[in-house]
Amino acid sequence: MIGRRGEVVSLPRREPPRVLVVSGPNLQLLGVREPEIYGTTTLDDIHARLTEVARAHGATIVARQSNSEGELVTWVGEAARDGFHAVLINPGAYTHTSIALFDAAKASGLPLVEVHLSNPDAREAFRRRSFVARAAVARVAGFGWRSYELGLLGLLAHLGRSPARARGPRAKVAVLKKPR
Ligand code: DQA
Repeated sequence: MIGRRGEVVSLPRREPPRVLVVSGPNLQLLGVREPEIYGTTTLDDIHARLTEVARAHGATIVARQSNSEGELVTWVGEAARDGFHAVLINPGAYTHTSIALFDAAKASGLPLVEVHLSNPDAREAFRRRSFVARAAVARVAGFGWRSYELGLLGLLAHLGRSPARARGPRAKVAVLKKPR
């Protein structure tokens, strides 16, 4: 690029976004856990799909799952320090109980999107409250495994990495493999 005074200016190269994908308690059981509510797709299938989607958008993900509230709090709170640019999280039941996770999300200072396979608002009353949502850019719920994918796409768009913005109108559309 030529600058105002005719000098050659190099454009700042944007770092590829790194997204931390976190799943909370009991989500390691996806595929066998209450399939009528959560579907038959496993967490590994979802992570594989998110890896492909991220790659197609010039981003990367690191995916983790834990049943321990403390571990989730540490991962989320230290995400910026660990070099992540955003967090995609399904906090499972800690959604409805964890002020510590809410504090960690605020402390990270990163954009965060909350996702749920089911639609907690349409279930038991105790699922209607989310502490984490107060620290989130957005929430995607009720689309089964696709909530993760839609949440990631929204997060990447939020970071300025929608396909159109990242690669221009002539971008090729990647054909992605669907999870089972
Ligand atoms: C969930 C919804 C929560 O209420 C529940 O405790 C979960 C899964 C979901 O993805 O639909 O464990 O987060």
